[in-house]
Amino acid sequence: MKANAIRIREYGGPDVLNYEEVDVAEPAEGEVRIRHTAIGLNFIDTYHRSGLYPMEFPAGLGSEAAGVIDAVGPGVTGMNEGDRVVYTGLPPDSYSEVRTFPAQKCVLIPDDVTDEQAAAVFLKGLTAWYLLRRSYPVNQGDAVLLYAAAGGVGLLASQWAKHLGATVIGIVSTSEKAALAKDSGCDHVLMADNPDIPGAVRELTGGEGVAAVYDSIGKDTFFTSLDCLRPHGVMVTFGNASGPVDPFAPAELAKRHSLYVTRPVLFDFIGTHEHLKTAAGELFQVVGNGVVTISVNQRYPLQDAARAHMDLEGRKTTGSTVLIP
Ligand SMILES: NC(=O)c1ccc[n+]([C@@H]2O[C@H](COP(=O)([O-])OP(=O)(O)OC[C@H]3O[C@@H](n4cnc5c(N)ncnc54)[C@H](OP(=O)(O)O)[C@@H]3O)[C@@H](O)[C@H]2O)c1
Repeated sequence: MKANAIRIREYGGPDVLNYEEVDVAEPAEGEVRIRHTAIGLNFIDTYHRSGLYPMEFPAGLGSEAAGVIDAVGPGVTGMNEGDRVVYTGLPPDSYSEVRTFPAQKCVLIPDDVTDEQAAAVFLKGLTAWYLLRRSYPVNQGDAVLLYAAAGGVGLLASQWAKHLGATVIGIVSTSEKAALAKDSGCDHVLMADNPDIPGAVRELTGGEGVAAVYDSIGKDTFFTSLDCLRPHGVMVTFGNASGPVDPFAPAELAKRHSLYVTRPVLFDFIGTHEHLKTAAGELFQVVGNGVVTISVNQRYPLQDAARAHMDLEGRKTTGSTVLIP
């Protein structure tokens, strides 16, 4: 069958995105074909587009979408035509009207969650889940520091961390974002241009520093983040919004009192269907009981994906963004 999709043939800025008609295969063994209804926009999409995360050309884009199954391949059990599903995973091709994808990597969308909410929360919410429940499992009473607190992952993680009993310190770049972050569970908000973030963090934590930093900014903030940690604290560096972190000497961890660093990737935490089901179950539980609310603050037609990339990279978006096919 034919359908429209974004294709790229070279790395570069948002202008390398082309919206064109492509062939969509019948679902192979273990696959379903999904007619997308809402596509999640994620910062990882910009890394694929720029070449930071390499792909083979011609390539699709997008690692998350919700939709309706319109064909089921051989060997698939527990999923039928007409089911509403959401998924996250590679290879990138969710910027499309229709695609095939392994059924094992899809989950059924609960009745009380819309397709748009599912596409807005799945990748980012599962990320918040593993950050707070696996990379550094938050304990009641911990102080934690979270960058981009008003962003897609940020608004979800700040609500969830607060629910887990943390004192949440968020970092944002504007007063509008500061208000959003405060409304979403941040106890304190620091401005990204504060020249002494470690000093401000120590003041807020009685001189001790935080138990963990969840840093998605990467290159520009790495050492600042290390300076915010308490002895034995955990640096979770999970994104490259300002570029990838440069190589560093382990002695930097020793001189700041035996720190830990981890560089996690979502897909390693949901690699089996069992792990995915556990993670999605916890996510949809906190969504269902109102602990985590989903903010879809921007919507763009799929054809306008380039504009969505410009706004995301230009720090103009807050919360989640969806592309509508
Ligand atoms: N490792 C993983 O498994 C994983 C999974 C999902 C997401 N991530 C990472 O998590 C981060 C958040 O993803 P998201 O999709 O939810 O995006 P987002 O947080 O909605 O957008 C990125 C935010 O980063 C901040 N930022 C700071 N410096 C920036 C710069 N130089 N350029 C652009 N933005 C900058 C901006 O917030 P302020 O203006 O408030 O500073 C911006 O709004 C990304 O780094 C992404 O790669 C990692």
